[in-house]
Amino acid sequence: MDKWTYTVLIFISFFVKSMAAVNRVGLKNNAGGSRNVFTIPPNSPKFLSRGQTFRVVLGDTMVLPCEVENLGNYVLLWRRGSAVLTAGNLMVTRDSRFRLVDGYNLEVSDVMPQDAGDYVCQISDSHNSDQIHTVEILVPPSIRTTPSNGLLTARKGGSITLECKASGNPVPSIIWSRKDNSLPSGEKTIEGFSITLDKVDRHQAGVYQCTASNGVGEPVTVDMQLDVLYPPEIEVERNWIHTGEGYEAQLVCIVHGEPIPDVAWFQDSFILDPTDRRTMEARGNKYTLTIKNVQSSDFGNYSCQGENNLGKSRKYMELSGRPTPAEFRSPPNSRTKDSYNLTWMIESYPPLDEVRLLYRKLTMNDTHQQPGQWHDVMVSPVNGDSYSHHMSYNIRNLEPGLAYEAIVQAKNRYGWNEVSDLYQFSTKRVNEEDNMLEPDMKDLELVASGNGSTNTIFSFAFLPNVCSIILLCVVFH
Ligand SMILES: *[C@@H]1O[C@H](CO)[C@@H](O)[C@H](O)[C@H]1NC(C)=O
Ligand SMILES: *[C@@H]1O[C@H](CO)[C@@H](O)[C@H](O)[C@H]1NC(C)=O
Ligand SMILES: *[C@@H]1O[C@H](CO)[C@@H](O)[C@H](O)[C@H]1NC(C)=O
Repeated sequence: MDKWTYTVLIFISFFVKSMAAVNRVGLKNNAGGSRNVFTIPPNSPKFLSRGQTFRVVLGDTMVLPCEVENLGNYVLLWRRGSAVLTAGNLMVTRDSRFRLVDGYNLEVSDVMPQDAGDYVCQISDSHNSDQIHTVEILVPPSIRTTPSNGLLTARKGGSITLECKASGNPVPSIIWSRKDNSLPSGEKTIEGFSITLDKVDRHQAGVYQCTASNGVGEPVTVDMQLDVLYPPEIEVERNWIHTGEGYEAQLVCIVHGEPIPDVAWFQDSFILDPTDRRTMEARGNKYTLTIKNVQSSDFGNYSCQGENNLGKSRKYMELSGRPTPAEFRSPPNSRTKDSYNLTWMIESYPPLDEVRLLYRKLTMNDTHQQPGQWHDVMVSPVNGDSYSHHMSYNIRNLEPGLAYEAIVQAKNRYGWNEVSDLYQFSTKRVNEEDNMLEPDMKDLELVASGNGSTNTIFSFAFLPNVCSIILLCVVFH
């Protein structure tokens, strides 16, 4: 429609309005001049539909009703603000999304945010007030992150704010969470436009997610990857590694750092290069130095060093042919009053040359404030065919109901091992009450099986009685 047609239409519309006015004046005259000027004549146009508010989801199609009775020769206009959209059956707007359906209902397809506002359906007479529809466009949530690629880096110890700007109508609410983890605050989710992490460390690195929802369409989630930059942090798997000549040894360091540190291995102060006997391997953050066919020159002090642009760190470990410290295996409470069977395990590739056991009384009383004297026992080494040496020594002449402590040392051709941790044990008390309240389970089993050999059912049914008879016997004894 060109400007000329539009002008003509507006002209027609005014013309029809003036005609209506003439008609009204005529009616008034016919009624004898006593009636109100605004009285609506019986056959004049009337709105059947009412003004409403429409909430339409972006992209949908809406139909704004405008149903009129007795329109007659009047022209019906759709307006938005001062812009005329339709006049009669003619489309005035050039927007092809607009059309009239089923009479004068206005259909708008592929609704856009700018379609929000008031729509006026107007009859070109002067009686009817306009019918106004209000249109609100519901927009599903969308998220803009800063930075837009969702990648963030923070330095260890610093603080960082993760921000999510969400738009949509109604205004979306934002919820923060963390992928496969809880938030550093310990909570699963936090609501808010941003979250700030203080004193960040590597445990706070990972994927953070912000989810915006406003009830329109599906909630949207955006991932933000937080990298925490920090100098190398090293843990050694074991700081003392036992090996033997001709065997293979592995030294393991766990190295964390961002950016990923360069890792170097040292023996004493010399940096190690790979050789045919020596390989270095990295799997994730686990770094392994493998030495094949170990020679005596391989024994010594090793270290792994990690370095990145934020710093350097180094951890030491010893590769040794000496025996491992003893690991005690016996339960800490003796079953007897005057002896204790101490058992332990020592690893050594070469045979053990000497094993030494030291023990002393620990229990102190009012007159004796010091632990007892150390007893020093040379134990003959057990050299089986395995490199694990299981040994035991039955310590005699102990006092009842007391606590003792023991140390075991062992020597092979490379020297004495590191001293074991002190191991504590205690002897059984001499107390008649103890004997009565804690009857030895072994004795009970013997009695039960003794009866069972003659009549199993009888023995099980009367087992409690048998037990009490034994207890009575102990009491009356
Ligand atoms: C190795 O040598 C370093 C530096 O001399 C020393 O601090 C560390 O205690 C040694 N470690 C072992 C296990 O011998
Ligand atoms: C001590 O314990 C070991 C290992 O359990 C066992 O072989 C040994 O016979 C025990 N010695 C005594 C005297 O009970
Ligand atoms: C305290 O312990 C010592 C050594 O074990 C012992 O000879 C002494 O009789 C004890 N004294 C008392 C009051 O139990």
